[in-house]
Amino acid sequence: MKLSDFLNQSCANLNHAGQLSPLILSIADAGKQIAVLVAKGKLAGVTNKLDSINVQGEAQMQLDISSHDIFIDCLSTTKLVVGAVSEELASPYYFDGYAVDAPYLVCFDPLDGSSNVAFDGVVGSIFSVLPAPLNAERSEAMFLQQGIHQIAAGYVLYGPATMLVITLGAGTHAFTLDPETQVFELTHPDLQIPAHYPEFAINASRQRFWEAPMQQYIADCIAGEEGVRQCNFNMRWMASMVADIHRILMRGGVFLYPKDRQVTDRAGRLRLLYEVNPMSMLIEQAGGKASTGRASVLGLQPTQIHQRVPAILGSIQEVDLIEQYHQR
Ligand code: AHG
Ligand code: MN
Ligand code: MN
Repeated sequence: MKLSDFLNQSCANLNHAGQLSPLILSIADAGKQIAVLVAKGKLAGVTNKLDSINVQGEAQMQLDISSHDIFIDCLSTTKLVVGAVSEELASPYYFDGYAVDAPYLVCFDPLDGSSNVAFDGVVGSIFSVLPAPLNAERSEAMFLQQGIHQIAAGYVLYGPATMLVITLGAGTHAFTLDPETQVFELTHPDLQIPAHYPEFAINASRQRFWEAPMQQYIADCIAGEEGVRQCNFNMRWMASMVADIHRILMRGGVFLYPKDRQVTDRAGRLRLLYEVNPMSMLIEQAGGKASTGRASVLGLQPTQIHQRVPAILGSIQEVDLIEQYHQR
């Protein structure tokens, strides 16, 4: 089934029929354009490091900026979006000429895993769709909505195959881009994450900065059959949240970017609005669970558009157990 047919079918049952479908198609179109740049690699200059630093204090690459511009162009054609928050912009971007009742806000990470670009590693894009408050003044406050209010969320994975994984609030579904027809075809309907799979993803080089519950959890996993878990665990880390979450959606396990004590104003590495919230909705719609260790991600009240939070996402039994380590 083509993405457009899937959207027509799924959106028919939603209040947003006729509007959500063109919005998601515009994001799919952005994904296709970014996939072309990623595939051209150095030939398209995507590996060029720029002199600019983004609001996160990170050096920008040409591909970060080009992907951001593609997202803004594709979203603006819909006239359905009031404003967008992007990882690459300090303040929200407000669209000109949108319909008076333009119903959406979009938060996006145009290029996730950018450190992989330099060596042709896997990258992705992440997006979250929120309702635009009616007649609200344009301000950052519009975007500070709990994750439970997301209308849709998803990512595009630029891997050996380009894949679009979305949720409209009724299951998580994966589409594969046919490189010949340039059509996203539904290949993995209704993904279900196994409740337990003995595999974790964490940047272990930051171990000395983790809190005690995380130290203990990882130590118990590594102890394997000889330890309290009585089970051998595997570890994978792609340095691209899209690639790690994609693997977990497909076969289970848990993704961790926990609270990090090194920098006190940094509750974690990943950004709530355009990384952790959309991924949490996808994970929970696939039967998994998303937590900070102490609270459900989707219930967090955001206070800043680029706010960072601890992220523990994956198989439900494992995330429950990690919350128990925190409670103890
Ligand atoms: P981005 O490239 O958008 O800044 O995001 C990178 C994120 C995420 O994709 C990944 O899981 C994590 O940062 C990697 O962190 P480390 O550099 O600590 O491995
Ligand atoms: Mn990212
Ligand atoms: Mn990014």
